[in-house]
Amino acid sequence: MYTVALQPTPALTWVSVGGILDLYVFLGPDPQSVVRQYLQVVGYPMMPPYWSLGFHLCRWGYHTSNETRSVVQRMHMHNFPLDVQWNDLDYADKRRVFTFDPQRFGDLPDMVEEFHQRGMKYILILDPGISSTSPKGTYLPYEDGQRRGVFIRNATGHTLIGKVWPGRTAFPDFTNPETILWWRDCIQSFHSTVKLDGLWIDMNEPANFVQGSVDGCPDSDLEAPPYTPKGVIGGQLNVGTLCMSAQQNLSTHYNLHNLYGLTEASATYRALLEVRGRRPFVLSRSSFPGIGRFSGVWTGDVRSDWEQLRYSVPAVLQLGLSGMALAGADVCGFGGDTTEELCVRWMQLGAFYPFMRNHNDRPNAPQEPYVFGQRAQAAMRRALNQRYSLLPFLYTLFHHAHTSADTVARPLFLEFPNDPNCQTIDRQFLWGPSLLISPVLEPGVVELAAYLPAGTWYSLEDVSIDTSLSNHLGQYLLLPAPLDTINVHVREGHVIPQQEPALTTNASRSNPFLLTVALSPRGWASGDLFWDDGDSMDTFHTGEYCYVLFIAAQVGKTSSLMQNGGLSRLVLGGLRVFGVPSRPVSVWANGLRVLDFTYRTDTKVSRGPGRI
Ligand code: NOJ
Repeated sequence: MYTVALQPTPALTWVSVGGILDLYVFLGPDPQSVVRQYLQVVGYPMMPPYWSLGFHLCRWGYHTSNETRSVVQRMHMHNFPLDVQWNDLDYADKRRVFTFDPQRFGDLPDMVEEFHQRGMKYILILDPGISSTSPKGTYLPYEDGQRRGVFIRNATGHTLIGKVWPGRTAFPDFTNPETILWWRDCIQSFHSTVKLDGLWIDMNEPANFVQGSVDGCPDSDLEAPPYTPKGVIGGQLNVGTLCMSAQQNLSTHYNLHNLYGLTEASATYRALLEVRGRRPFVLSRSSFPGIGRFSGVWTGDVRSDWEQLRYSVPAVLQLGLSGMALAGADVCGFGGDTTEELCVRWMQLGAFYPFMRNHNDRPNAPQEPYVFGQRAQAAMRRALNQRYSLLPFLYTLFHHAHTSADTVARPLFLEFPNDPNCQTIDRQFLWGPSLLISPVLEPGVVELAAYLPAGTWYSLEDVSIDTSLSNHLGQYLLLPAPLDTINVHVREGHVIPQQEPALTTNASRSNPFLLTVALSPRGWASGDLFWDDGDSMDTFHTGEYCYVLFIAAQVGKTSSLMQNGGLSRLVLGGLRVFGVPSRPVSVWANGLRVLDFTYRTDTKVSRGPGRI
């Protein structure tokens, strides 16, 4: 914990409470190199399962399995893509993790099986606090944990007891190798009944509803160091968490506090890999450098208001710069009632978070897409379909993040480091180098001043208004942004692989691919596709993947299969080319003449069969 002061001269002053400090300086020289150098130290982001890039839906307050089922049914009945249904603490018996309520969620295993039959996945919440007050012989996670010595101890060597949702709890020490095995055993035993597909690790700062422990903390410099930054209540570091003098296997909690979520994420990732044998999915609230190797991260309890919608953009970008590529905020906001307009705009922006989950707090008005009016629903459906159609591109970006420390959601300054206008833009962002996203972040707005950096940009939606622009410097343009529209532009010189959307990625993955080609003024564009089964570990290392390079040039468009990992044939169903100067005389594909192509003089778009 520290204070950072920005000095008038180009200088920073760091004041730390103390503890172990490792200092690295990354010299770049350009911002993208700084990110790469940093990730070479903390680790590259994990490769997420393909399904985890689909839409996730959650709330605290789906009280029963039937209520949860009905959410899924209504989503698909109203034609909203949904890949992953979640449950919050509601599922757990007396809020104790690794149990499920026999009355309200008695058929949880069947419900999960039904979701799987639909081609969907299921995730539930897992808090680290393990209830310590169950009658003897009724709650194995605690008893087995005590027997194996896995919990954090207080300064006198007894199990430290705090309070979280189930009441009095003990806290696993994930720096203890035995804890990692015990955690695996708990997950394995629960998974043998409930075939969950991923885990949501919450409250892992670790959060505690009492200060330090139910018995307080010793009076010591570790609890209240001589210097603490402003905002640390009463100068005590243990407010809302554990005693700093508590003992973990590696060191005091003082030295390990910030690593709690990281160590839990790593243990959970390992456990899921062993138990499911597939690519793990973990979402963590607490984060620390390096956690992106194991886990996605969300921005915690954001309020349902416009300010928090707007600040979610720099929040998600910053997580991405720190190697947490799979990041997002609770779509439509978590705290307080959302409004229809806010929720539409948030679904549109959320469709471009690398991780997209709509999540709501207990007392609030519902915010599942189907609860809103027809116009709002249509706008949300459109945003979801846009995301699903772009998933092959998003997945390929994750492949580059995983293998080359690229960023997925990217601030403009990273891509255009020499454009001074880009340095401060945090209301727009890019996917990779080539897709510019300009969301509406204020109420009542139907047009938006968006910055388009130098070059030609084509509106992805190919609507009648041509927003493409050719210039040497970037400039702000006023773009129409009615309620059903989020502005997305493709950068000249890039090919974007897409796929027909469907209600799940399980279904969309077998649809034909579509290519959007945005030609540079010299008539050139390139792009790529990484494709594997979306769920197996280490496909890049085992070679079980396809990698296709697309090149469009004056002579035509070619695809080169650089790696063919034995996957079933990938089918191209349609092609759309932006920036074709005049109507083509004829179009040929694989030696055959294509008759049903169209050409638009206003947008200079030529397209072959297939719908995008
Ligand atoms: C706090 C989390 O941030 C929130 O997302 C969750 O709904 C509650 N804990 C209840 O589990």
